[in-house]
Amino acid sequence: MAKNPVRVLVTGAAGQIGYALVPMIARGAMLGPDQPVILHMLDIEPAAEALNGVKMELIDAAFPLLKGVVATTDVAEACKDVNIAVMVGGFPRKEGMERKDVMSKNVSIYKAQASALEKHAAPDCKVLVVANPANTNALILKEFAPSIPEKNITCLTRLDHNRALGQISERLNVHVSDVKNVIIWGNHSSTQYPDVNHATVTTSSGEKSVREIVIDDNWLNSEFITTVQQRGAAIIKARKLSSALSAASSACDHIRNWVLGTPKGTWVSMGVYSDGSYGIQEGLIYSFPVTCEKGEWSIVQGLKIDEFSRAKMDATAKELAEEKSLAYSCLN
Ligand code: NAD
Ligand code: LMR
Repeated sequence: MAKNPVRVLVTGAAGQIGYALVPMIARGAMLGPDQPVILHMLDIEPAAEALNGVKMELIDAAFPLLKGVVATTDVAEACKDVNIAVMVGGFPRKEGMERKDVMSKNVSIYKAQASALEKHAAPDCKVLVVANPANTNALILKEFAPSIPEKNITCLTRLDHNRALGQISERLNVHVSDVKNVIIWGNHSSTQYPDVNHATVTTSSGEKSVREIVIDDNWLNSEFITTVQQRGAAIIKARKLSSALSAASSACDHIRNWVLGTPKGTWVSMGVYSDGSYGIQEGLIYSFPVTCEKGEWSIVQGLKIDEFSRAKMDATAKELAEEKSLAYSCLN
């Protein structure tokens, strides 16, 4: 029997990530090849005509899984009964801008949209915040939507996770799908800590630790980390625009694993509300390694943390605590 359609909201849908993301959702990359969807697309008035153009293209593409399209500048209409909300709307960082520069523009949007989601979305709606500063926008959304369970509000660090897998696969000349269990700790910013201490590579003689195979600890402890941390800025420098297709694809990966589960023995990175695991203070949205089952994520527990990692995990937590205070000062 055909499944009932799932309603998926994409805010900022006329923007560049939105334009890459909506066809992926309509093709089943987010929720699976047998899951019909109804797309809800929100943007602001100046982008209304462009948004309508995206709707026209979705119709023209005749996607078999796409059972309806709502394209609107009305936030209440956009949020009505949505099961998944991918929050991309906001102002992106331009070349030369620090992430803090985009903070004041974006946190007030997230405060307002928190209330709309709370009032109009389906009660079990799962929220993924992509717009920067992603962790802090998600935190503001959580704080101003107290009736949405905190487990349902997450932010995107899967792009960083995928970037880390990509760097290891390039270095070792192995396929990216043979690398797993890297971790992104902390903020989706240049203080994030990409950690390979538990990562493995599948080889013809079985599963090996990345550290064992790469051998060059120096590269793993320096260049690898900074390359992943700075990849967003490198893309902006090259494209004069921030990453879009990789962000859209990673957003699909995030929701797909959350809803449909992670493969056995594999974890992924998600920005989630800290419960104090690994000594990370509660009250922050922090990226942890998680596994997902039956639509619920759980933080992977019991990983050994060395001194080098501890310092980096704490530094990114400190930045998030500072962003939190800055966000509140922008809202006041
Ligand atoms: P973009 O400027 O191309 O698109 C943003 C869209 O949001 C625009 O169409 C704009 O009109 C719309 N918008 C602005 N205010 C809105 C509001 N109040 N409600 C609804 N829509 C609104 O930007 P983009 O390149 O698509 O990037 C979107 C966001 O994603 C940026 O904040 C960017 O920094 C962030 N980003 C995050 C990651 C990540 O991994 N977390 C990766 C890449 C980009
Ligand atoms: C990215 O990681 O590509 C984006 O978050 C862009 C940015 O502002 O760094």
